[in-house]
Amino acid sequence: MNELDQKLANLAEEIAKSAYAPYSNFRVGAALVTDTGNIYTGCNIENVSYPATVCAEDVAVLKAISEGETKIKTLAVACIDADELPIFPCGVSRQRMAEFGTNEVIVVHKGESKKYNFNEVFPFDNKIKFSN
Ligand code: THU
Repeated sequence: MNELDQKLANLAEEIAKSAYAPYSNFRVGAALVTDTGNIYTGCNIENVSYPATVCAEDVAVLKAISEGETKIKTLAVACIDADELPIFPCGVSRQRMAEFGTNEVIVVHKGESKKYNFNEVFPFDNKIKFSN
């Protein structure tokens, strides 16, 4: 964990307080840095129609890509309401992160952060080659 990693971890914890999670009461924050050095954050945004819920990681990725970024270096996630176990990004979020070349994931749990290579977290991403 370098200084930037710690900054991402802190931002993920901070932005989790903006979560809209009235159904689960489980607040999540994410912060990522791109290859250009820009930082984007996101929180989970739930919906009364449960499948319309968007994960914190996805909000951060969608914000970054919609602003013209193309490559994610590191993404930190903080589930500030998690109890005993650290929580990793869900499968859909991992695939979304894989699409933009994410290298590392930082999981923040009770103020402690651990950094993983993306390959450890998601070894078999979907790499279909479309021929059209
Ligand atoms: N959630 C995230 O935003 N990211 C995760 O890594 C774990 C789960 C959200 C989705 C839902 O709003 C709530 O946490 C409970 O699953």
